[in-house]
Amino acid sequence: MTQPKKLHVKTYGCQMNVYDSERMAEAMGAQGYVQTDRPEEADLILLNTCHIREKAAEKVYSELGRLKVLKAEKPGLRIGVAGCVAQAEGAEIMARQPAVDLVVGPQAYHRLPDLVRRAEAGEAALDTDMPDEDKFEHLPQLRTPAAKPAAFLTVQEGCDKFCAFCVVPYTRGAEVSRPAARLLSEARALVGRGVREITLLGQNVNAYHGDAPDGGTWSLADLIWALDRIEGLERIRFTTSHPNDFSDDLIAAHATCAKLMPYLHLPVQSGSDRILKAMNRKHTAAAYVALIDRLRAARPDLLLSGDFIVGFPGETEADFEDTLRLVERVGYGQAYSFRYSARPGTPAAEKPGVPDEVAADRLQRLQALLGAQQRAAQEAMVGRETSVLFEKAGRLPGQLVGKSDYLQAVHVTAPDSLKGTVARVRVTEAKANSLAAELV
Ligand code: SAH
Ligand code: SF4
Ligand code: F3S
Repeated sequence: MTQPKKLHVKTYGCQMNVYDSERMAEAMGAQGYVQTDRPEEADLILLNTCHIREKAAEKVYSELGRLKVLKAEKPGLRIGVAGCVAQAEGAEIMARQPAVDLVVGPQAYHRLPDLVRRAEAGEAALDTDMPDEDKFEHLPQLRTPAAKPAAFLTVQEGCDKFCAFCVVPYTRGAEVSRPAARLLSEARALVGRGVREITLLGQNVNAYHGDAPDGGTWSLADLIWALDRIEGLERIRFTTSHPNDFSDDLIAAHATCAKLMPYLHLPVQSGSDRILKAMNRKHTAAAYVALIDRLRAARPDLLLSGDFIVGFPGETEADFEDTLRLVERVGYGQAYSFRYSARPGTPAAEKPGVPDEVAADRLQRLQALLGAQQRAAQEAMVGRETSVLFEKAGRLPGQLVGKSDYLQAVHVTAPDSLKGTVARVRVTEAKANSLAAELV
């Protein structure tokens, strides 16, 4: 009997890449490939890459350098690059690293099996087309039986916003929403496999406007309400939203939909109107704060998360202080902050950035403030009750780990039988990145 071929996928970047990696593994599974965690065992290695910042893109080349050594020992090994670096750089990747056999952009994954066949035959295999058809319609909808209790579901792809710093509109293409009927059937299948929480994904997820099951168009709130009716599904989340696409029905859902979790990632990038304008964000700091106020009026315990960029071209100390002021006004439970990275092909890349040491200093000051807010939010959980979806065993024996309503990691002494279920807990201790709790 011949051994099945083995596939190793390494994923970088955002949750949409995580979702795509699973779909690619399933597509190759239908071709007889089994997945392995060990690159040295693999016949095919796929890097699903991210192009968002220079560091993310460079990581791919250092990994490819290591894989080249592996390939020298195992000539049958095929190496593929998928994701946003594949889309942005295309054939250049093969020129820069000849060990690469295959390059496939994020909108062409349904053609992956064919590309692998070509690569195996020693032919050039490159596809960075952005065809009109929905790649997911052409990918097998299998999903492994041992699904984790929390799953991602991509509902919308691409971005039409063109923030001046961002590569996503170029690497992922125009905004496309998947039809609601297809999403509901995928959600039902997930729940049938034990999934209890679904996070709806999109680069601009709240811009979702998909075909409704019986004509018409659904908003993200419509989709959430339809998911709310799926028995066995207990939690719904969505990410990432843009402030300008927050419609009234979505704000209202935070007040009335019990399955919608009180955690929201809502990037603002900067607190300076001047910089927001230069970033082409098309909203002011005050509009963002007003939106947060409305969301908190709907759901007072909402935990907020955000993304920030410091050192955008032209950012002055006064602009940066506006960002600090906005952070103080809003109060985040969690946040991601980055030094601006000039990306080839984006409008902002034409302009001179701020000096390195200035950007580094601002990032450090911003992270000190955000870190203090996160610690305060963690501390504020002590003594409070929350639900936890137990996902896996903890580090200590007899312990399970899961996520709170607010997406915080929680460690609880609990029987193994609770794995994959939602239970009520009371928080006993707060650490910077996790909570300890007991069952109630
Ligand atoms: N669609 C999401 C963001 C996707 S990228 C949104 O609109 O919010 C995730 C985060 O990476 C962004 O929110 C931004 O903070 C950061 N980012 C994007 N491009 C960047 C760049 N050129 N330099 C530094 N950070 C960047
Ligand atoms: Fe990038 Fe802006 Fe689109 Fe987000 S909204 S993906 S930051 S262009
Ligand atoms: Fe990165 Fe592409 Fe996601 S650039 S953040 S992997 S959309």
